[in-house]
Formats: sequence, C-alpha cells, structure tokens
Amino acid sequence: MTRLTSIIAKSRLPFLSTAKDQPKTGRIDESLESVREQEEASFSKRIKAETAEAHRIVESTNFVKGILRGVMDLESFGNMQAGMYLVYSAMEIELERHKDHPLVSEVYFPELKRTEVLEDDLRFLYGEDWESQIRSTPAREEYVERIHWLGDNDPGLLVAHSYTRYLGDLSGGQAVSKIARRSLDLEGRDGLRFFDFDEVEDGKAFKNEYRRRLDELPLSDVRAMEVIDEAKKVFALNQRLFEELEGSWIRTLASFLPIDFNSRLRA
Ligand code: HEM
Repeated sequence: MTRLTSIIAKSRLPFLSTAKDQPKTGRIDESLESVREQEEASFSKRIKAETAEAHRIVESTNFVKGILRGVMDLESFGNMQAGMYLVYSAMEIELERHKDHPLVSEVYFPELKRTEVLEDDLRFLYGEDWESQIRSTPAREEYVERIHWLGDNDPGLLVAHSYTRYLGDLSGGQAVSKIARRSLDLEGRDGLRFFDFDEVEDGKAFKNEYRRRLDELPLSDVRAMEVIDEAKKVFALNQRLFEELEGSWIRTLASFLPIDFNSRLRA
C-alpha cells in the first residue's frame, strides 16, 4: 500500500472543538410542517423538507462527525472513497443507460459524473493496483443492488439517487473536502478530486438549476411520493455505509492510543 500509511490526522480532538469551529451543517430550516401546508409547494422544496430528518440523522453518525471534526486517518478516508466508487459506478452506469427516460433525462448531467475522478483518487490513495484492493461489504452490496434493481425494474426512481448524492456532494461535500485536506495533510487535489466539480462553474447556480429540473418532473402525486420515499431510502443506505465504516475507523484510532490505554480498554 503506497499512501495508506494511516497517519492519525493532525486532528483537532473532538472534545477541544467548540460549536464555533463546526462547519455549517445541512440542517434544513424550513420546517416540514410549513412546507406540507403549502398546497402548491414545489417538488424540490418538498423533497428537501421530507428528507431533512434523514439528512440530520446521517450527519449525526459518528463517522461523519469524526470527518467534520478533522478526526480522520488516511486509511479510513480511502476506505470511505472505495465504497463511494462502488456506489457511483453503479449509479452512473444506470443513469447513462436510462438517460432518455422521461424522469431521468431531466436530471441527467454528464458533467457531474464522479466515477473517473474517483478512479484517480483511489490510484493516488491505494497505488496502481487499487482495483484489486477495493472490497465490497454488506452495506455496499445492498446499496449497489438497489441501484441495479431500479435500473432493471423502475428506472424513474433513479432520480432520487441522483438527487441525494449529487446535491449532497455539491453542498456538504465541499466542507468535507476542505477539512479532509487539512486533517489528512493532503496537498492540492490529489486524493480529493471527487469533491471538485471542474465542469460546474457556479455550484449555487447549478443547484438552483437542478432544483428547477426537479420541479419540472412530470410526476403524479403518487409518483412524487415514491421518489421522496426512495430518497429517504438513499439517505438510509448512506447511513449504513457510514455506520459500517465506523467500526474500522475506531479500531484504527485505538491502534494509535498508548499501549497501556489499549490494554485498559480491553480489560
Ligand atoms: C458531511 C456532512 C454533511 C454536511 C456538513 C452537509 C451539509 C449540507 C448543507 C449545508 C446543505 C445545504 C446546502 C444548500 O441549501 O445549498 C446540504 C444539502 C444537502 N445535503 Fe448534506 N451535508 C452532509 C452530509 C450529507 C450526506 C451524507 C448526504 C447524502 C448522502 C447529504 C445530502 C444532501 C442533499 C441531497 C442536500 C440538498 C438539499 C436540497 O437543497 O434539496 N448530505 N448539506
């Protein structure tokens, strides 16, 4: 393994950080009630409000909190991106396959594709033989299977997958990139290309355009609810990815503790 020397990040310890240090979170301020009450609420507002709770939960997983507090080691970061690679390659295969579908076509943006940049990142993190080192896990398998199942059976719901991942990457992903660069001591873009959307000039404007496309989706009330339910499912699948990573991350952190501390932990 070339770069995966699993250094403990030059991290700020969580208990030393203050609320002021914390990055802006994705708490969605508009309450679900108020959006539900708006009879004519746009679909983009509804999906945001309906998934706000799921967003809060995924953001509160220990692994994500660790990233945000700069408590991250290169090995765990590489492992997280390996999972992302499996998910994105499946999702982008299916989005490409169904790019002419009436729903998918509305949110088909080839400039968002992440598979190739993830390959570059993994090559940097794991070395030339990166592919042989990427492992599937139960949570990754479940996520990837869901994507391909939709590709075969209900491609319209892939919209929820595109929304949840890409809008997330264009939002919180940007904070994650800055913190990871600092805490993992990375330089430039190496290992972090995933977070750079070179072909998106203005992230805010792009997200607004994406939301406009969501609003134009030809959706019946029932279908709209199905897309929202799928988005909640996608958040839950991401939550599972993070929970699964937590175990190996904690083991890595523990291995850097003084030996007598470790033996006390085991006692
Ligand atoms: C690392 C922790 C995270 C932080 C700090 C964070 C932060 C944010 C912020 C600040 C926004 C609002 C951006 C805006 O309104 O323009 C946002 C939106 C969003 N986030 Fe996150 N997020 C995190 C994790 C995630 C994860 C893990 C997912 C899903 C896998 C996700 C999915 C989304 C989505 C879909 C939106 C767009 C909501 C909308 O405008 O419709 N986020 N996030």
